[in-house]
Amino acid sequence: MHAEKNKLIDPFNREIKYVRLSVTDRCNMRCFYCLPKHFKNFEQPDHWLNIDETERVINAFAELGVARVRITGGEPLVRKNINQLVQRICDIDGIDDLSLSTNASLLSQHAQSLHDAGISRINVSLDSLRADRFRTITGGELGPVLEGLMAARHAGFKPIKINMLALKDINDDEFESMIEFCLEHDFSLRFIETMPMGSTGRKASDHFLDLGKVRKQLSTRFDFIPGVMPGGGPARYVRVNNSDLRIGFITPLSQHFCETCNRVRLSVDGTLYLCLGQEHKYELRPLLRQGISDDGLKNAIIEAIAIKPEKHEFRDRPGQVVRLMSMTGG
Ligand SMILES: C[S@@+](CC[C@H](N)C(=O)[O-])C[C@H]1O[C@@H](n2cnc3c(N)ncnc32)[C@H](O)[C@@H]1O
Ligand code: SF4
Repeated sequence: MHAEKNKLIDPFNREIKYVRLSVTDRCNMRCFYCLPKHFKNFEQPDHWLNIDETERVINAFAELGVARVRITGGEPLVRKNINQLVQRICDIDGIDDLSLSTNASLLSQHAQSLHDAGISRINVSLDSLRADRFRTITGGELGPVLEGLMAARHAGFKPIKINMLALKDINDDEFESMIEFCLEHDFSLRFIETMPMGSTGRKASDHFLDLGKVRKQLSTRFDFIPGVMPGGGPARYVRVNNSDLRIGFITPLSQHFCETCNRVRLSVDGTLYLCLGQEHKYELRPLLRQGISDDGLKNAIIEAIAIKPEKHEFRDRPGQVVRLMSMTGG
């Protein structure tokens, strides 16, 4: 609602310190819970913020106290010149934590250059370790994803977090093998509940699994020590005893964490989304293209933060978010 000296504080007294930056709404996969198979209604290229515009917006956020940026999409690695964009964001004063979410299918080509450019932490979506099942869920191939993961490890990313959507009747027999896989390769793991974003997300609700129950069940097999992850974030983490493996249970539906929300999302067309589970938004692209000053841009961001809603309503109003997850990147 107001900017204390270099701070963005929303109407619920939460400090906004984190921007999820979607650099494209396109993707080379079609995860059934995210992007409809024949979806064509992508943002037109002349609406994409170019590298200079993106840098300006993130710079304005940094001057307002934002220190963390996660690059996401769609699939961020399908964006041309992604390395250059990453480098420019990385060089912004005040951004001290730059991370990436990717499906990893193109990561083997990019891992080293992204790491050299300044990204140190990555999240990789991986819902199954079985090639046929992976193809059914995502429409893509498992082999290149595993190659991408190994390339990332080789390039020095740490931590590498695997994001696995927990899907009833689809991959609920693979949780233990995913834990073993992460133990073997020194990855972290986060189980995630499906969210009713767009038509695809709502259909996926049929496969919703309450992660509280999953956690209970897994703890009969693994010795979990409750803990917290440095840097906070929504995940409720445990550590597997006698190992370094941390496992997060991300429970936006069964137990939401809106009261500590510290983030907003910028889509590729320059729209700021104030909440993942609401449609409240503020368009920055027209202002950028009308030549707004740097101070004007900061004021616009302050105005946007003033409409950040208190919480999502995925449970009470599951039909209300019409945009797809691929527009804002989770
Ligand atoms: C939209 S993707 C963007 C980044 C990249 N393409 C990837 O897959 O990691 C970011 C995350 O959103 C998750 N996601 C997509 N649709 C979802 C849904 N309906 N409910 C919960 N998570 C979803 C994906 O599993 C992924 O981990
Ligand atoms: S979850 Fe990621 S990889 Fe899957 S369709 Fe959505 S954007 Fe693409």
